[in-house]
Amino acid sequence: MFLYGRTRHYGDTMPAEATVADVESALRGVVDPELGADVVELGMVRDISIAEGVAAVGIALTIAACPMREQIESDVIRKVTALPGIDRTEVSVTAMTEKQRSDLMSVARRSAREQAAPTTVNPLTRVIAVGSGKGGVGKSSVTVNLAIALRRAGFKVGLLDADIWGFSTPRMLGVDARLEAGGDRKIIPARTSGIHLVSTGLLIDDEETALMWRGLMLSKAVEQFLHDVAWPSDIDYLLIDMPPGTGDVQMALARLLPQAEMVVVTTPQKAAQKVAARVADMARRSYLPVVGVIENMSGFTAEDGTHYELFGAGGGSELAADLGVPLIGQIPLDPLVVGGGDKGSPVVEDHPQSPSGAAFITAAARLIELVPPAEDETCTARIAVLMEQLEGRPPS
Ligand SMILES: Nc1ncnc2c1ncn2[C@@H]1O[C@H](COP(=O)(O)OP(=O)(O)O)[C@@H](O)[C@H]1O
Ligand SMILES: [Mg+2]
Repeated sequence: MFLYGRTRHYGDTMPAEATVADVESALRGVVDPELGADVVELGMVRDISIAEGVAAVGIALTIAACPMREQIESDVIRKVTALPGIDRTEVSVTAMTEKQRSDLMSVARRSAREQAAPTTVNPLTRVIAVGSGKGGVGKSSVTVNLAIALRRAGFKVGLLDADIWGFSTPRMLGVDARLEAGGDRKIIPARTSGIHLVSTGLLIDDEETALMWRGLMLSKAVEQFLHDVAWPSDIDYLLIDMPPGTGDVQMALARLLPQAEMVVVTTPQKAAQKVAARVADMARRSYLPVVGVIENMSGFTAEDGTHYELFGAGGGSELAADLGVPLIGQIPLDPLVVGGGDKGSPVVEDHPQSPSGAAFITAAARLIELVPPAEDETCTARIAVLMEQLEGRPPS
């Protein structure tokens, strides 16, 4: 039997070429939206094989005509193709036999009953970690503006500031509320600009407490934010502003949130691109599929229309090509980004039509295409009927 979460342990690394076991680990990040458990745990994964860079994965669905089929298929393809050495993934879908379905139902029921979930984040919430090799490339600005753009597109958005002592999202979103605990003693995220925000910046009041946090293991703090925070269950996207560099937070995320994926931010500079590539490599080793690259500070257009490539050009697309992932967006250098961050109102909120505002909105749209929200429309009703039948009870 598989336990909830990952079987991989802290510090494990992945070889250059993914193995069948690696594919299986990646598939633990694919959650059946209906049953709220991953496809490996549910026994939906059939034969896995790898030959010459092509991974073949068999998936048995509860019902072949399930509307979830497309989402599960595309998730499988995305997660498996993100592994090193895999260029293409072929998914063959079959329907389960009645016996297999009843086995699956008992696994699903047991997992629902045990609720051994290590976090309060709904498995259906899409989790996008925004990372970069080093500070100052605009990771937090990108996270905050993507969050607002996703909210403007009609989604419920959460933001976890995992930059535990370098936090900047409260300032960027203009919030100075303190986090409070609810009835169940779990921390309630602050609501700001329609975003559910959690950050150490909303917990600490003075330097002394800041110092206390400094002694804390980063990954432990992030674990607490995933465990002790009452993340609303209807959040479509949870964005995570990652601390620069460190691999342990990435590993903690991969372990705690199997659905987590990563967007890598870089600048057009060659140097930045190299550091970003290291981060992407670390992400892969800890099973965070890289969704794509965002190039920030890509050029500056002066008022007279002259375009200056202050930090060089091409870093984003080169990195994306190296990683075999799409370039999700290019955000120009724009004083409005700085101004928005300083006065607590991100550029996408105040100037959605400015060049940088529009670029963020386009990037968010591309991200939604690549990582579509988990669908609401499910075959739950059908499954419920099925479960009743399996238990020999008449449907209520
Ligand atoms: N596209 C941009 N144009 C102009 N300034 C930017 C842009 N992106 C970020 N900045 C500025 O660069 C600085 C660093 O950005 P920040 O988001 O804090 O980076 P990080 O989180 O990677 O350390 C901030 O002052 C921010 O306002
Ligand atoms: Mg930052």
